[in-house]
Amino acid sequence: MRIGVDYYPEAWDRSLWEADADLMQQTGVEVVRLAEFAWCRLEPEEGVFDFGWLDEIIGMLAERGIRIVLCTPTNCPPMWFYEKYPDAVQTEKDGHKTRKGIRGHRCINNADFLRYAERIIETMTKRYADNKAVIAWQIDNELEANFCFCDTCIGKYRSWMKNKYSTIEAVNKAYGNVMWSGEYSSWEQIDPPFGSYPDAWLNPSLMLDFNRYASDSVVEHINWQAELIRKNCPDTGITTNVWFCRNMPNFYDEFKGLDFISYDNYPVTRLPDNPEECYSHAFHLDLMRGVKRSRFWIMEQLSGGLGCWAPMGRTPSPGMIKGYSLQAFAHGADTVVHFRWRTAAGGAEMHWHGLIDHSNVPGRRFEEFAELCEEAKTLKAVCNTEIRSDIAILYSPEDEYAFKIQPQTNGMYYMEQPMMLHSAFVKCGLNVDVISQLEDVSGYKVVVAPEMYITYDAVAKKLERFVKNGGTVILTNRSGVKDEYNKCIMQQLPAAYRSLVGAYVEEYDPIGYDSADIRLTDGSVYKCRRWCDVIHPETADVLAVYDSEFYKGKAAITRNRYGGGNAYYIGTVCEQSLYNKLARDILNEAQIAFVEGLPDNVEITTRTNETMNVRFIFNNTNREQHFCIGDEDISLAPFEMKTDKSIRE
Ligand code: GLA
Ligand code: ZN
Repeated sequence: MRIGVDYYPEAWDRSLWEADADLMQQTGVEVVRLAEFAWCRLEPEEGVFDFGWLDEIIGMLAERGIRIVLCTPTNCPPMWFYEKYPDAVQTEKDGHKTRKGIRGHRCINNADFLRYAERIIETMTKRYADNKAVIAWQIDNELEANFCFCDTCIGKYRSWMKNKYSTIEAVNKAYGNVMWSGEYSSWEQIDPPFGSYPDAWLNPSLMLDFNRYASDSVVEHINWQAELIRKNCPDTGITTNVWFCRNMPNFYDEFKGLDFISYDNYPVTRLPDNPEECYSHAFHLDLMRGVKRSRFWIMEQLSGGLGCWAPMGRTPSPGMIKGYSLQAFAHGADTVVHFRWRTAAGGAEMHWHGLIDHSNVPGRRFEEFAELCEEAKTLKAVCNTEIRSDIAILYSPEDEYAFKIQPQTNGMYYMEQPMMLHSAFVKCGLNVDVISQLEDVSGYKVVVAPEMYITYDAVAKKLERFVKNGGTVILTNRSGVKDEYNKCIMQQLPAAYRSLVGAYVEEYDPIGYDSADIRLTDGSVYKCRRWCDVIHPETADVLAVYDSEFYKGKAAITRNRYGGGNAYYIGTVCEQSLYNKLARDILNEAQIAFVEGLPDNVEITTRTNETMNVRFIFNNTNREQHFCIGDEDISLAPFEMKTDKSIRE
């Protein structure tokens, strides 16, 4: 495992650099990320470049054996640029220009921006092409899908539409535009979703396509930058760092043309009182690993109390700095870069804490970070191992967009069911993959397919084949609802999945914040919420019925034997303990061995290569834990990670 830090020499007095570099070296920092916001210091005046300071800090770090990730500084063009090209600022939904002085505010399709971006990227990549200390390039910073509403972007969006549909009649048909007399007769009539009304007033078909376009637009920009970097630095790895932002790009498309994934990981510092509500950040880590089905980087990792977009939050409690980093490693992040070395003294983010506080006196969090660096050295041999799993959860960025466009009912959001189902299997001490629904699933034993909302027939057929061949699939409510244009399918739900599930939905009740009861065949009763599908079994067995409401006695959860396998259908959103029970029953039935009796929020992952299995046991709680696995007694301090190796037979 390799530990790094994000560092902003441009913001610190030159007199601090040497001591910082020394302390990094002594502590065991191996990677430093630089320059993603430093354009105004790299090109202080138009066409006048100053790389002297960057050369110097890179030299200083390299001398100490530290490797560098350099960023293209395109997130924030300098003020002189905006003065000359005021149009290059993004345009917001209401038609106003975004205000300057923030970041990420350039229009990525603006020709002037692209010209200046090309020049700084070329100058920078040429300069560092032969610098052996530079091991990777990061493109920009946390790029979002392109929600700019300037004339250039509107033009791009219309071309995207033309390219997709060829004729205007095809758009009208795909979108059902006759509603509210919305039929277009020319491409120029197609507007992006701007204006002051809520998006819910717009056609969801248009909204879904706009999200697809907005993602494609940023992906095009990323690929354009990657190509520029490769011209001068063909052998250096290229990435961009992502998080779960408001306007999310489609991660699968985003990383297709890049060498590796990096993710910005900020686990919570305040744990909910009810352990059932505590979801694990392992879900997002597993999702990131699944994007390229390979190991990945954390490019920014929790280092202190968060607080710049909101009032300050709680400081990481003892164990979190180290434990959450090791958790990321246990899920496949071989390099973890902490954000940030020292807390900023100026600027909007001065309350977002780094490893060292404003005082510049290393304290408790730094000490823990130093321990992490020590422990990372002992894990070198575990890098380049794989995480193998029998269980996959399918994720679809399009379904997530579609749920955001049309929230299904009060409190319901796309990620809830995937995360709860993920937790249920994690509680069994198993590795879980989270992969695109478009991936091949034939190597798995259990495939969890929650909310298969937008229907692709190929995906439905693939799951049928998987079950026929002996696999187990778990489907849920809100499956088979829409066609790929986000229009409702005129069939009884779950439509394309009906024969696989062996049941159909007679009617549904979006109960939102209310709750209902369900009763299992063994008589136990659980709460459910958000949504109730009233299921009519055809060939399926009933595993649970509703125990309240006018559909009391009707099926809520079913299992259909199909070919050599089983298809489960969960028609409602359950409490976590019921998912946990179902997961154990399903694993028993599928004959997959698992760990019994793990305490809540204790997680086990295994990394494997040809010769060894390395097991990670993580206490993701702020309490001590004592428990047994088989005849092993295990004790863990809060957020402690235990690692042990065994030789593979
Ligand atoms: C993101 C950004 C960083 C910083 C942190 C904390 O992850 O990439 O530049 O803003 O949030 O605020
Ligand atoms: Zn624009």
